[in-house]
Amino acid sequence: MKGHRIEGADKVRGRALFVDDLRDSDLGFVPLIALAVTSPVGSGTVRAIRPADALAIAGVRAVITHENAPRLRKVISLSMSEPGTRLPLQSARIDYAGQIVALVIADTLQAARDGVASVGLEIDAGSAPVVILADAKARLKSVKRAGIGPGRSRKGDADAALAGAAVTTDDTFHNAAHHQNPIEPGAVVARWDPDGGVTVHAAVQWHHVDTMMIGQAFGFGWSDGLPGFLNRVLRKNRSESKVRLNNHFSGGAFGRNVSYQALLLAPMAAKVVGAPVKFIHTRRDTFSLMSHRSEARQHLRLGGAADGRLAAIVLEPDIAKGAAAFVEPVGEMPMQLYAHETHRLTSQVATLDLPGAGWMRGPGVAYAIFALEQGMDRLAAELRMDPLDIRLINHADVHPVSTKPWEAKALREAYDAGAAAIGWRDRPKGGTMRPDGRLTGYGMASAIDLGRQFPATAHVTLTADARVVVSLAVSEMGQGLLTGLTGLISEMTGLPTDRVELRRSATTESYAAGSIGSTGTYSNAAAILDAVQRIAAGLLVKARKDRATPFYGHPSGLARLMSDHLVLGDGTRAPLADLLARYGAQSASGRAGLTFGASAKAKASFGAVFCEMAVDAVTLDIEVVRLIGAYDCGRVLQPAIAQAQLRGAMIMGLGQALMEETRLDRRTGAWTNAELGEALIPTQADVGHIEAITVGAFSGDNPLNFKGIAETAIVGVAPAIASAFADATGGQIRSLPMTHKERLRAVRDLEPTTLKEAAE
Ligand code: MOS
Repeated sequence: MKGHRIEGADKVRGRALFVDDLRDSDLGFVPLIALAVTSPVGSGTVRAIRPADALAIAGVRAVITHENAPRLRKVISLSMSEPGTRLPLQSARIDYAGQIVALVIADTLQAARDGVASVGLEIDAGSAPVVILADAKARLKSVKRAGIGPGRSRKGDADAALAGAAVTTDDTFHNAAHHQNPIEPGAVVARWDPDGGVTVHAAVQWHHVDTMMIGQAFGFGWSDGLPGFLNRVLRKNRSESKVRLNNHFSGGAFGRNVSYQALLLAPMAAKVVGAPVKFIHTRRDTFSLMSHRSEARQHLRLGGAADGRLAAIVLEPDIAKGAAAFVEPVGEMPMQLYAHETHRLTSQVATLDLPGAGWMRGPGVAYAIFALEQGMDRLAAELRMDPLDIRLINHADVHPVSTKPWEAKALREAYDAGAAAIGWRDRPKGGTMRPDGRLTGYGMASAIDLGRQFPATAHVTLTADARVVVSLAVSEMGQGLLTGLTGLISEMTGLPTDRVELRRSATTESYAAGSIGSTGTYSNAAAILDAVQRIAAGLLVKARKDRATPFYGHPSGLARLMSDHLVLGDGTRAPLADLLARYGAQSASGRAGLTFGASAKAKASFGAVFCEMAVDAVTLDIEVVRLIGAYDCGRVLQPAIAQAQLRGAMIMGLGQALMEETRLDRRTGAWTNAELGEALIPTQADVGHIEAITVGAFSGDNPLNFKGIAETAIVGVAPAIASAFADATGGQIRSLPMTHKERLRAVRDLEPTTLKEAAE
């Protein structure tokens, strides 16, 4: 099985269920179709909505507006998503362009489309929306926290250290807003059940947070609110939720599929018409009804000693925030990568007239490390040091802030492996002419992401015929979690994978950790391991009293399940199948992660990304000739899937570097390129040689000796690419994506002759 996704065969045969593919026979009913009417302007008030023309269309059943929509109750969004701040269709106020102002429900998609086009909408426009940081000076506010990251932090007196440093850098970096843009726009089906509960079909990354959100919004009470949620986490409570969420596969998600508005719109529509409804996002809807990665600007100053050691990091980010509580956590990671004497982080946040921003692969860290790594390159250049050497000199042997030792850090191995693979030490001088006349450039950058753990519970049963059944409300969005967990369950129980049954449960039978923050596989595996160990301990208790087993009369000890056997520390063993046949099925609930993985050691995944680039000196066209990432993610559970994760993230990093930007119309506040044809992401033709190397499997047979993969691998890519451009041309990139305009700006800042000389 190694290397094969367990859902792979179903996916290639079209049998795997995605919400929009659910047929009437899968659902057991025919849903009506709901589409959104959205505001073309970014501020103001809905003066009137006239549904008459839409309602006159054959097949249109209802038009829901803020005037006739069911009142939703306030929700607590643990994912900091927009419904926690503002609920859809509850007010006439327009907070941003693309905001939903009406829902059209019809028998068919075509009738719903016609209905959307026929809804009369009159809006009293408000003052001009403010949608970019350049216009938002008056809105910037200093913050203590920026989302899950600190807004401020200090180590020593960084300003004094900067003033006294041998060399300094001073740059302002900019990241444009962009969207996660998974291929699947996403749909949500809802049907109200006779007992007052609701059945929902959707693809979400964090099952229990979203069932809670739906339950709260529709007033389901205690068991579906925060107390019920906490009860499930803390007490392994297996009570049913009245929100029956069937969590299907998704065609990518990348952070977007948490607590999105459609999870409330579909049940709302179904309630109004008294029939099952499928809400469908158009592609354009996903740009405003789901989340995006917001714009940020970072003023970064570094101070270095003559030997290259970091004396000061002074980082002042300005971060755009939309209609959600979420703030891009730019300050979370930059002080955790390198050893440094002093630092100061001072963040400001501006709330803009935009839809809620949210999670996107490498939240905060991808932006922060772009800036930090560009700064490190500048520092190296000032000191005439090799970019790799300055990173080795500042390698954090212990956590730079907490001074805790690292758990299994293999960043040095990643530098070595990546440098060897690209030929870093023998690379041609930057700007050297290639045989085809283009300029050559090499760049590199480090990557880091925290090794997090979230609470999870798991219910595990070993059946009398020696199969293991685990049911978990987990989310498989293509990252390979089902396959990873199946392999781990096999390892933990000693049973082959064909005797492992992992059920993606529709109920809240156990509290599964979400597929968020590169933690899903780890967090759920930890809970499963706890349950398996409880089962092993229970079997030993029985076997020690049973004359028919070799454990009879043995002293108690730590029993484990290994290779189809129950094994005691002293080597005593008996076939698991025999014990299960004697004692019958064994079940246990396990739990882990209540302390969010806090330990005496610091844990993070690391990487080193290297780029070889060819640049046309006249047009500044870029070709990323080779992109090589070496990553330390601990043990690799499934090599083929890990490769897919790493390479996919590197391609996403390539997109972030070169093309991903959702632009805004400053007059209306609307996203101007809210279509996949214009919001560019890398396609096959954009991707050259991409290579992912893994290093740093840590020793020991603990099944949990692995770390997160999904997000680390996007982190160093954009800075490595920007660094290669600087190496080739001397032009320093300060803004992503590095469009032609930005490249021109970068080389225009040069001494007038430099690029010309290089071209000659
Ligand atoms: Mo991740 S950005 O938490 O899907």
